[in-house]
Amino acid sequence: MIHLHLTSLVIAAVLFFITYYSIKKPGEPDMKYNIAVHMIARLLYVVVIVTGAIMFYQFSIAGGGDAMMYGFKMLAGLITIGLMEMAVVRQKKKAGGQPLMNTFIAFLVITVVLGVILPAGPLSAMF
Ligand code: HEM
Repeated sequence: MIHLHLTSLVIAAVLFFITYYSIKKPGEPDMKYNIAVHMIARLLYVVVIVTGAIMFYQFSIAGGGDAMMYGFKMLAGLITIGLMEMAVVRQKKKAGGQPLMNTFIAFLVITVVLGVILPAGPLSAMF
């Protein structure tokens, strides 16, 4: 489960960056961007959320892990994915997505650090 979580979030992040930087002429009527890549990224967001939610249940609710830290991890993960989607949507408009992109990077770091601090998974095993 954790490997699916990690694999899908890495691919989702790559596809997110491709989507974001493929946006040309924001706010114009003939605005073009890579819709197919965006769709696949969205599908992977769902995989990340579902695998995360299953692990949240297994490790925190059923497994008796640190409920507060798991709560923060879930919240940070959901906010990170929300920011990815919001950055793309904002970038397509004239407003520009840079502030949301910066916030996304900050939350990505927080989410990854929380994931590594929590006990399960190959990344945690490295430290
Ligand atoms: C883009 C968003 C996300 C990122 C970057 C992310 C990142 C990570 C990372 C790096 C790990 C640790 C893997 C390891 O130690 O080998 C992890 C584990 C985990 N993630 Fe996420 N995650 C995200 C979204 C979510 C969401 C939305 C949820 C919940 C709904 C979630 C729940 C979990 C849980 C429960 C674990 C296991 C923690 C443990 O016991 O070690 N994650 N995640």
